[in-house]
Amino acid sequence: MRLKSKKVIVTGGASGIGRAICTVFAAEGASVVIADIDEPGSMETLSLIQSAGGHAAAITTDVSSEESVAKMISASESFLGGIDILVNDAAAFVFGKLEDVSRKDWEVVFGVNVIGASNTVKHSLPFLKKSASPNIVNIASVSGFIAQPAFVPYNASKGALLQLTKCMAMDLSEFKIRVNSVCPGAIYTPATERHIAFENADRDEFLKKAGEGSFLKRVGRPEEVAYAALFLASDEASFITGTQLVVDGGATV
Ligand SMILES: NC(=O)c1ccc[n+]([C@@H]2O[C@H](COP(=O)([O-])OP(=O)(O)OC[C@H]3O[C@@H](n4cnc5c(N)ncnc54)[C@H](O)[C@@H]3O)[C@@H](O)[C@H]2O)c1
Repeated sequence: MRLKSKKVIVTGGASGIGRAICTVFAAEGASVVIADIDEPGSMETLSLIQSAGGHAAAITTDVSSEESVAKMISASESFLGGIDILVNDAAAFVFGKLEDVSRKDWEVVFGVNVIGASNTVKHSLPFLKKSASPNIVNIASVSGFIAQPAFVPYNASKGALLQLTKCMAMDLSEFKIRVNSVCPGAIYTPATERHIAFENADRDEFLKKAGEGSFLKRVGRPEEVAYAALFLASDEASFITGTQLVVDGGATV
């Protein structure tokens, strides 16, 4: 019960890491709003939480639309009765070398991964300011601080999200709002399956290669990221702000 009675919004909660964050946070006593563009996926997460006895609601949201976010935050506040914790997990996965990337691609990846996170923060702020222990956790990536082949738009957006975290941690400190990032390495999720299909790769070979770069010689599980987010979101991390917690099995050490 490390998040007992906490009121939480998780974007990207319909799948993968975001779903694990929703279920772990709810199991730790939080009330959770699942805010995702994928309605059926959100309903699956909701039913996982409810069947385990947790308290949650799903609100279909496109984080890249300020109007959609404003509606979601207002409905969340009504459902939760306040907002203590915001987790920005939703992401667009746009890859390629610079010459492969169109202006539209840049708009999509920054629209979700950077502007999406700033939309949710902006509209949650009036409520976070009223919380006794407010904080924001951004799910960034090791891709935010390393180079990877043909990953230009995604990595640039995650680098921007890391800077957004640091700058917001400074500016929001006057309201005692902590802001941190989690930087996952290779984690096995539906996004991994899409990447395997995109590269037309052999699944076992792909996963073996993805895990080889880490000290632990495997890819991670969504829950292993969720527990890092749980620590940062909990009062146990009360003196931690502006930092990034790397969850990559040692891959970038
Ligand atoms: N899987 C990995 O290896 C890995 C590694 C590093 C970082 N991450 C980060 O972890 C987070 C979760 O990734 P995942 O692997 O679980 O991916 P995923 O595809 O399983 O989940 C991403 C979720 O974001 C939602 N989403 C996308 N666009 C949205 C929008 N405009 N508005 C609202 N929701 C939207 C999707 O519907 C989906 O439910 C992302 O921020 C990703 O960048 C993942």
